[in-house]
Amino acid sequence: MKTERAYAVASPSPERAVHRVAIVGPRRELDGVPLAEAPWPGVLVDRVVDEAFDTYLDGLGGETLAVVVVVAEAGDRGPLRVLRSRPERLRTRAYVLARAPARLLSPVEDDWDVEGIVDLDRLTPEALAHAVENGLRAYRALGTNPLIPEYYLDATYNRIFDWFETTKWDWRELDLSQIRRDLLTEPEIDILQESAIIEFGTLPGAHNFLREWADEYSFSSWALSWGAEEARHSLVQCRYLHEIGIEVRAKHALYKREPYPIGENRAATLMMNIISESRAAEYYKTLARLTREPVLRTIWRLLGRDESRHARAFFVFCKELVDRAEENAVAAVQMAYVWLADRRRGVKHPAGLFYPHSSSTSGLRQIERYAPVMTDVADRKVLAMIRNLLDDESVQSVGDLKAYLRSKVA
Ligand SMILES: [Fe+2]
Ligand SMILES: [Fe+2]
Repeated sequence: MKTERAYAVASPSPERAVHRVAIVGPRRELDGVPLAEAPWPGVLVDRVVDEAFDTYLDGLGGETLAVVVVVAEAGDRGPLRVLRSRPERLRTRAYVLARAPARLLSPVEDDWDVEGIVDLDRLTPEALAHAVENGLRAYRALGTNPLIPEYYLDATYNRIFDWFETTKWDWRELDLSQIRRDLLTEPEIDILQESAIIEFGTLPGAHNFLREWADEYSFSSWALSWGAEEARHSLVQCRYLHEIGIEVRAKHALYKREPYPIGENRAATLMMNIISESRAAEYYKTLARLTREPVLRTIWRLLGRDESRHARAFFVFCKELVDRAEENAVAAVQMAYVWLADRRRGVKHPAGLFYPHSSSTSGLRQIERYAPVMTDVADRKVLAMIRNLLDDESVQSVGDLKAYLRSKVA
């Protein structure tokens, strides 16, 4: 085994690692493979005789191995089998150098997750450098998120897609021409304006989700559907107001752009959303029960149902993280404790926290008149979800959350 040391330069990857590339093959072939000793900053090239590949991998320990190029002129793919028998090396990208290669990967190569086959007969330094460079990019793209499954459809997004998609409401369920203006009260109109504006906060929420979950595709894909539904919540309430002669100013949608910092723990971020969705669900359901105006009742009922679905979906993604690591469970419960515990200055809602501008405080005050009851109902549902998250039936109150946290830090 011969190691070529590249000059030490900071890697552009956020992992700040030196990436290794191994060229593996029969001894007589190795020196003829035209890859420079230090082709890129932060990349080391090792040339490894195929029989020694297993020992080489043992010697790497925790170091990254970004790309393996297997010289397999006589059809011997042994090093690939060795590589893929090690679960910690599944992220390593593999290329095969072969003579007169087939255009498509053979099933076995596909099983071994081979990126591509390079023609050994017509090998140029440029072609090899191009393949390895693509391998490095692919390796970085895969990242370190432990929730990325081997197959696309094994992600949680696929698991909840049908349920989420088939419980959507149809825009044709609403007929704004049927609004009975005479049945509306002034406080209701205030609440409606406030709700439309509060819903504007979900768009920057979607921006943040995509930023915070940039290294995966499952939650991010679902967040797109979630964001689309939330955008309807603003739109439908603004259209209703328009029908009764009230225009909502665009500035309110932009006031919400102030970005809030990326959360430290994703399970905690999801818990905050479980709580805000559960509370929003109860607000809308209560408002729907109280109004006498039939179109508004339908709208608020549909929105309440959406918010319940959102809470359940956020729960599914939160549970996926909590099942994976206890630190996620602790972070989620800490977040729950922050939001559920202290109601001395009124009910806290993330939308209120992140949105200090308010156009119609009387509307919000009106909601808060019902808030103690609504919030109790919502919070009981949140506690039920936390019991499920922790698989612990003893969590019945906010005090039990505190006890759980104490037991974890003790
Ligand atoms: Fe909403
Ligand atoms: Fe929602």
